[in-house]
Parts: sequence; C-alpha cells; structure tokens
Amino acid sequence: MNLKKHLFLILFFLSLSSFAQKFENLALTPPMGWNSWNHFACDINETIVREMADAMVSSGMNDAGYEYINIDDCWQGLRDSLGFIHPDKTRFPSGMKALADYIHSKGLKLGIYSDAGWKTCGGCSGSRGYEYQDALQYAKWGIDYLKYDWCNTTGLNAEGAYLTIRDAIYQAGRPMVLSICEWGDNQPWEWAKDIGHLWRTTGDIYNCFDCVYDHGTWNSWGVLQILDMRDNSMLRKVAGPGHWNDPDMMEVGNGMSVNEDRAHFSMWCMLAAPLIAGNDLRKINLPTLEILTNPHAIAINQDALGIQGYKHGVVSNVDVWVKPLINNEFAVCFLNRSVEPASIVFDWKNNPFNDEYSQQSANFDMEVYALFNIWESKSDGNTQKSLKTVIPGHDVLMYRLKKSKN
Ligand code: GLA
Repeated sequence: MNLKKHLFLILFFLSLSSFAQKFENLALTPPMGWNSWNHFACDINETIVREMADAMVSSGMNDAGYEYINIDDCWQGLRDSLGFIHPDKTRFPSGMKALADYIHSKGLKLGIYSDAGWKTCGGCSGSRGYEYQDALQYAKWGIDYLKYDWCNTTGLNAEGAYLTIRDAIYQAGRPMVLSICEWGDNQPWEWAKDIGHLWRTTGDIYNCFDCVYDHGTWNSWGVLQILDMRDNSMLRKVAGPGHWNDPDMMEVGNGMSVNEDRAHFSMWCMLAAPLIAGNDLRKINLPTLEILTNPHAIAINQDALGIQGYKHGVVSNVDVWVKPLINNEFAVCFLNRSVEPASIVFDWKNNPFNDEYSQQSANFDMEVYALFNIWESKSDGNTQKSLKTVIPGHDVLMYRLKKSKN
C-alpha cells in the first residue's frame, strides 16, 4: 500500500473514532418520567404502557414536568435471522414503532431498557455483541431514552461497555438519554460524566423507608439505606446539567406512608436526582399525586444550576440538608429519620451555610432570608428567629430561602 493510501486510511479511522460522543444538551435538569419496573416488574405490555401515558397526561403529571414513559426489562422477544431485536409478540403485538408514535402523539417521550451483558437481569436478550444493531433499531422505533443494565457481564469492563453503547447510539443518529445502571459497582461517578446522562449510584430501591430486603443472593434497599450508601460530599461534585447521580427510581405511591413518601420525594429533590415515578399512574390517589406534582419541590429538583444538595449537619437529632439554588437562594430540608416525632430548635444565626463546592453561602447573622414552606405552600416567617417546631416521624420540613431586602 502506498503512503497516500496509508494516510487516507489513518485519517478515515481517526475521523470515525473522534466522531462518536455523548449526545449533549439532553437532561440539562434531572430527567422526569415514569418507569414500569418498581410496580410491574416483568408483567408489562403495550396496553399498560399506553394507559400509563394517558394517565401521565390526564393526572397533570405531564404538566408538572414528567415526560418520559420508560419501559424496563422484559419487553424483549426474539432476534431475527439478521440479529435485530423485536419486542415480545404477545405483549407488544403492535410493535415498538407504533407505541413510540402513540407516546409522541401525547407529547411524551419513550424510554426502553437493555443490558450490557448477553442477557438482561430478567433473562431476556441483552445487547452484548449487538450494541450497534440495537441502537439502530431503537433509533428506527423512535426511542428517546435508554436504560442500560449490568447483569451477566462477567469479564466486561464497565467503562468500555458503556462507551460502546454511547458510541452506538451516537452513530445511530437519534438523540437518546443514556441511563447507566451498574449500581455504583464500578464507581461510575469517576468516568460516566462524558458517557451517560445519569448513572445509578446504588443497588435497587425497595418500597420501605428504613429496611433492607433480602432476596437471597442480593439485597434491595430502603430510602434511608440508599441515602446512606455513598459519600454524598464526593458524589455531588460530579453532578450537573447533563450528568446526574441516580439513587434509583422512586417508590412514591407504592405502599409507604404519606409522610414517608413526602420525605422520600423531598430528598430526591434535594439530591437533584432523576424523578422517575414507579407507581401505577392509572390508580394514583390524591396524596400521592400532590407529592409527585408539588411545583415548589419540583422547582428545587429542576433548578437550573443543577447543584446536588449536601448534608449541613444534625440538629436536634434531625438531618439538615441544604441545596444551593439559582439567584443565591437555598432549599433546606429537615429530615426526621426516626419513627418518633422530633422537636427541633434550629438557630439560623448559629448555622451559616457555607458550600465550598458551589461557593454559595448565607450568613444569617448579617442577612435575613424569607422562608417559604414547600409542603404547606406558604410564606413562613424568616431566619431572624430560631425555628422551633415538631417534625412527625419519617417526615420532613422543607423550605425555600430567599434573601429579604434589608
Ligand atoms: C436491575 C435494575 C433494576 C431493574 C431490573 C430489571 O435489578 O437495577 O432497576 O431494571 O434489573 O430486571
């Protein structure tokens, strides 16, 4: 081969490899939507997915900001003779393209699920060896979001496997949010920022506030266990617009008490976590709907700065969390981890906020902030006076703070 040809080939391959990247300008705030797994597990079909889309719109969830309808594991049927994946014929008889068209006609977006291994966690066909073909198929169907799991991956390198599917999606040409789901096992916060738009930081959630559920060979985790699992002060430094820590989909409306659901949702807002509901939207009751659609809590989650909150400390046995917001505002969440009500006294003046990471601070000795109570949806005094109140068991008190003009 002569030199010219050599050069041409080198340039050709260089251009190919530098061409693939993550789709940018997606998930600039934490994604909001619904996913089938927490409520339906493998018992999923196209009727349920359509009804969930209908309910997302009619319940007001879509107006509140939820837009993704995500099908989790067990939608898969067989691969054809060319290797292309098709949905299970009995459960998705109209096919994925028709389903995507329906979801899009409602102004929503469709998400799907696969796995980096040869089989998914639910035992269906995984994407290993078919990454580019699968991405192409999803793009043809009109998929907007891919959750990519990590079962049956012995011997695979996580960063490499997620890079492969990222590049495959890019080559397929349709922007899709890439949700990395390897449970934090390979420290994705160290490498996933330029690969996916969100990455799971923990194992699976379980619909309890404070418990560990033993499945035999693995555990799933209650809300408090998920909150305690990783070093939040380290994780928050890698979150931001387009790349989020994901403490798993929500269990709001799946059996916890209203207090617990409220505390769970509030903490997901404080952590700038993706807000992916996991309940049956067709049967949503008023308290659940009021939690999932609280505009003040959602505004804290969706704040344009995208700063993940941090734990300020423990006061009167209650955890105090702070989230810096746009325009030098703050969200504060008092989390009562105990089942017993907690009497708290919080002297703002002795508790200046000083976030080295965001460089946002508030000195309540010098400045007065007005308090807006997120769950009561009303102004609630200011930071001049110490806060004295009782927080019910497994519940929160949540405020938005805005500097008053002196
Ligand atoms: C894993 C994931 C879950 C869900 C199931 C599906 O456990 O972490 O979120 O997707 O697989 O089988």
